[in-house]
Amino acid sequence: MRRRLCVLTVNGERHERAIAPAATLLEVLREDLGLTGSKRGCDGGECGACTVLVDGEPVLSCLTLALAVEGRAITTIEGVSTDGELHPVQRAFEEQGAVQCGFCTPGMVLSAKALLARNREPSREEVRLALSGNLCRCTGYGRIVDAVQLAAKRMRT
Ligand code: FES
Ligand code: FES
Repeated sequence: MRRRLCVLTVNGERHERAIAPAATLLEVLREDLGLTGSKRGCDGGECGACTVLVDGEPVLSCLTLALAVEGRAITTIEGVSTDGELHPVQRAFEEQGAVQCGFCTPGMVLSAKALLARNREPSREEVRLALSGNLCRCTGYGRIVDAVQLAAKRMRT
């Protein structure tokens, strides 16, 4: 089918591209915009490695058509730090040893960022629930929960 001209707003920047109707947001981010921080894991909605935020809510970009999010605010891991400063969630992940191979980390950080935007003081269970769609093969999750709680504490003060 014919490509359609579309404007995507990613990390506050407008990108005008001709997009195929069947192109996923993940494909467009990685292949057209060069934003490879969003990872292609299962490519089928199972692992969460491709998680991005759309209007602040976590979305699986491998299951989302790019044309469906025209006009929405898309945030990828590349847009999370500000002025070269890591986001508190990123800093806490680093400090708590919550990153091993790092493949799951962009999706985890974005899911955690969305959680902390709606819940400033989540319990460990609430953190686990919010991250339940993000799979990690390396860390055993405990350090990830520690990191999110540390970030929450710092963001409250
Ligand atoms: S790559 Fe999207 S859920 Fe696994
Ligand atoms: S750090 Fe390797 S998959 Fe999570």
